[in-house]
Amino acid sequence: MAEARITLLPGDGIGPEVVAAARDVLAHMAGVRDYQFEFTEAAIGGAAVDAVGDSLPAETLAVCEGSDAILLGAVGGPRWANRDGAASPEHGLLRLRQHLGLFANLRPVPVYPALAAAAPLKTELLTGVDILVVRELTGGIYFGPRQEATEGGAATDTMVYSCEEIERITHVAFRAATRRRGRLTSVDKANVLATSRLWRRTVEKVSRDYPEVTLDHLYVDACAMQILRSPADFDVILTGNLFGDILSDEASMLAGSLGVLPSASLAEGTFGLYEPVHGSAPDLAGQGVANPLGAILSAAMLLRHSLELEEEAAAIESAVSQTLEAGLVTPDLPIPGGQILTTQQLTRAIADRLV
Ligand code: IPM
Ligand code: MG
Repeated sequence: MAEARITLLPGDGIGPEVVAAARDVLAHMAGVRDYQFEFTEAAIGGAAVDAVGDSLPAETLAVCEGSDAILLGAVGGPRWANRDGAASPEHGLLRLRQHLGLFANLRPVPVYPALAAAAPLKTELLTGVDILVVRELTGGIYFGPRQEATEGGAATDTMVYSCEEIERITHVAFRAATRRRGRLTSVDKANVLATSRLWRRTVEKVSRDYPEVTLDHLYVDACAMQILRSPADFDVILTGNLFGDILSDEASMLAGSLGVLPSASLAEGTFGLYEPVHGSAPDLAGQGVANPLGAILSAAMLLRHSLELEEEAAAIESAVSQTLEAGLVTPDLPIPGGQILTTQQLTRAIADRLV
């Protein structure tokens, strides 16, 4: 798609800096290829709470609905901590995911040899690591009925999964495994949770459509351990909303920094929201030290999934690899012989390598 409307939702903390970086790379790509990308910025999260008292204003939803894809920075920060409803930045993001039907969250873990020294794991464990976490994003305990605590009382969150919700995310994961190394690990807690037993039965049923994919199941606690013990054994990890949130942060340490992980949150069809996996990191905001790679690699996923520009997506990914191989990094990635750059300098270095 050579013409596209892209909504930018910078959000809070370092969100605006990394979204600006990703937009610059997309704009540079559009210039090189003579494409027309139209960017429209809208408010979300704490910034929107401050502006209009709602973390997901109706106007933002309207802008998102009128676009081909969304690029988001991050939401939240201590200023708005422990709020609920419209005053909670995180709630704004969750409502957006639910409203737009973004049920399929793809979180690849890019393991660059140049960053191995920055990872807390032994380098030999990282050889051959290439994991894709497929996280269900609009169901489970994030969206089940809840009751806030009354004074001195108890609070309740409810984990709910329907067969249909499990089936559709399972198809996404199997299709991804078919295009990759043909291995799928479904992660649950079926020894304890009823939703997990339904999850396992449903995944087994769907697996009959994909005889070429090898399926296994792991309990989430065992999976957390295996990700550190033998990460190269994994190909696609399929899991629910809460487990996927936790395991993807854990897996980010294989990449050296949470700052390099991108994600795509997809609806049926090509529409999607793209955001780095990292949070708003308020302590780093405004200093030019934020790692823009998670956002830039998310922009590459946007080109691939929403605009079907595979070659252009690969060009951005290759520019990122070349930049890292040249030792150019932000301060979160201390590698021997590396050169520490600001967010903008690293972004420029990537854009300069785009052809
Ligand atoms: C993520 C984040 C969000 C989540 C928060 C900000 C609501 O941690 O995208 O991983 O828990 O899904
Ligand atoms: Mg998270």
